[in-house]
Amino acid sequence: MFSVLLPTNSLLVAALSLLLTRLSSSSLSVPDIPHIAAYFGTKTRYEEVNPHLLRDLTSVNTSVLKPPPNERCSPVHLTAVIRHGSRYPTVKNIRRIQKLSELVRREASRGSGGPEDWLREIQSRWDMCVRERRCRGVAMVSGHPCVSSLQVLEYKSDLKQYWKRSHGHVISGLSSCPLFHHVFRTLDKAGRPRRSTEASPEPASILLGHAETLLPLLSLLGLYKDQTPPTANNYHAQHGRSFRSGRIVPYAANLLFVLYDCQRGPRLQLLINESPVRFPGLEAEDAPLYRDVRATYRHLLDGCDFNRESEFFPHSNLRIKA
Ligand SMILES: *[C@@H]1O[C@H](CO)[C@@H](O)[C@H](O)[C@H]1NC(C)=O
Repeated sequence: MFSVLLPTNSLLVAALSLLLTRLSSSSLSVPDIPHIAAYFGTKTRYEEVNPHLLRDLTSVNTSVLKPPPNERCSPVHLTAVIRHGSRYPTVKNIRRIQKLSELVRREASRGSGGPEDWLREIQSRWDMCVRERRCRGVAMVSGHPCVSSLQVLEYKSDLKQYWKRSHGHVISGLSSCPLFHHVFRTLDKAGRPRRSTEASPEPASILLGHAETLLPLLSLLGLYKDQTPPTANNYHAQHGRSFRSGRIVPYAANLLFVLYDCQRGPRLQLLINESPVRFPGLEAEDAPLYRDVRATYRHLLDGCDFNRESEFFPHSNLRIKA
């Protein structure tokens, strides 16, 4: 695995990106943003997925709501599962960053140039090393060698997410059974027929969590499941993969279930990071009838009993973060 070869690579990347920002800020339209920012996996900022927010942080694209145009519909309820926004690094990583920073200062004070010369030097050495030892034969997908290396590191982090929290093991998705049931109970309640005298449903149910909350739930729903699983050996075949953690679970990632009241009955639309995503098996429509969504997930609605499933996998190391 890549991590064996370069255990501190992500720290190095962080340091390099700080340098690159300063070196190239004059050529960027928005200052202080390294062009490698899209490849930080689960540490990617939300604006990489929705760049229009860089121009206007409050803008909302209402044309993502797509009930059938030939049917009268109105949105009546929203269930949202939202990851927290950007956060400080963990204590472990803060200590590593500190060590790296000390190393940089120490080495820089030995040489004749400043820290930026020193970083520039290690960057070029690192790129050479990456090209020679790891990426032998990798096509430069992008012209910039640093971006090419970043894509390898991004892949390494996607491998971790895939095998620890997603389709790599069925148990990861099953850890979301209680959340799955909660979401559908809420939608059932919001969508059930009402007399005109009854109160309208709760307009929204907002659940807050982590990347570790969203990834297993998305996996359970059958999303981002490529035909070939990503492994340490098939990087070359995975360029077009849908499983890119920086696109799926950047900071502030969000999964929205929009329930519409329509002429033919309730309909449900899925939005991931504010973009429409179709339910696997119901790809013909953006907002299929809610009863068809329930039929598609019947096996989970009638099963997916977390307590029973975890008995089937007694040795798995399950962790659920609320
Ligand atoms: C708004 O959403 C629509 C539908 O998903 C999309 O085609 C369009 O590009 C989006 N506009 C912006 C500015 O992102």
